Amino acid sequence: MKYINIVNGPQNVSTVIQGCMRMPALTKEQAAKVITTAHECGVNFYDHATCYGDGEAETRFSQAFALTGIKREDIYIQSKCGLCFDRNEFDWTKENIIKSVEGSLKRLGTDYLDTLLLHRPDVLFDPQEVAQAFDELERAGKVRWFGVSNVVPMQLELLKKYVTQPLVINQLQLSLEQSQLIDQALYMNNKTTDLSVNRDGSALDYCRLNDITIQAWSPLQYGMFGGSFIDSPDFPELNKALEEIAQRENAAKAAVAVAWILRHPAKMQAIIGSMDPVHIKETCHAADIELSHHDWYALYLAAGKFLP
Ligand SMILES: NC(=O)c1ccc[n+]([C@@H]2O[C@H](COP(=O)([O-])OP(=O)(O)OC[C@H]3O[C@@H](n4cnc5c(N)ncnc54)[C@H](OP(=O)(O)O)[C@@H]3O)[C@@H](O)[C@H]2O)c1
Repeated sequence: MKYINIVNGPQNVSTVIQGCMRMPALTKEQAAKVITTAHECGVNFYDHATCYGDGEAETRFSQAFALTGIKREDIYIQSKCGLCFDRNEFDWTKENIIKSVEGSLKRLGTDYLDTLLLHRPDVLFDPQEVAQAFDELERAGKVRWFGVSNVVPMQLELLKKYVTQPLVINQLQLSLEQSQLIDQALYMNNKTTDLSVNRDGSALDYCRLNDITIQAWSPLQYGMFGGSFIDSPDFPELNKALEEIAQRENAAKAAVAVAWILRHPAKMQAIIGSMDPVHIKETCHAADIELSHHDWYALYLAAGKFLP
């Protein structure tokens, strides 16, 4: 495993994060195996959200964590708030942010979140209210560091005008197949392809310029949640290219796909979502694979892109 320091944020965090979105499907014993397997591979960072299984992911994690013998202070626990699917709305009001964190703490059985992210923009958000909520949570010792997820640079600027804590993380979708974060700058001003469309206000470069660590979610998925491209017959070229490097590195294809994200000089973290201990072990190996400059391009092109 490799570790990075998040500027103004948590230090010595694993570059691979274990995502817990799919944990509600497990028993507490199975979930304990997921937590321990990841931890044995060097993972010290676990990602949650209040909406995962409508709170069930956090509850299962807490029940399972008690079985592992791992100390709370040896891991980072992150949760996200703001997606209220039960009410069919996104909500960044002060009341909802505070209520969500209190719910997460209760379900997770912990006194504090290491990091809290605003999950997806509430288009009606008032940055002053967000600032008040963050101040209250910080003062009460309930949250150590703050960040966002799926947020464009101008909204980050708006938040930064009022929020006094540094916003240290932006969790964004990125995989070999869902590479919009990277595509738009490469194809800039090219009328012949949709790959040139700037869909996120240049979030990648903004985050690099402002020392915001990107956490790449769904590193193996195609589409929004289409499924994994690993071994999928719909991605023959990509699987062939992954396999070639996997054989050379004595690694699994999933590890090579995650290594492709970690190879980017933005020094991102990748959030894996597998609930299968064998897959987790294989995929965590990503942190130890050193892809070359050429490998990176070869995989990108095999995922269906081209050089303009
Ligand atoms: N901020 C956001 O908006 C947002 C959105 C979505 C997700 N997330 C976060 O990102 C995390 C990861 O998302 P994800 O679960 O979609 O990530 P992922 O790692 O891209 O996908 C995991 C899925 O791929 C499957 N898979 C198939 N073949 C695999 C292989 N060879 N190796 C490993 N996995 C394989 C896994 O099945 P098995 O379990 O059988 O291995 C699992 O169902 C979530 O847990 C959550 O924390 C954040």
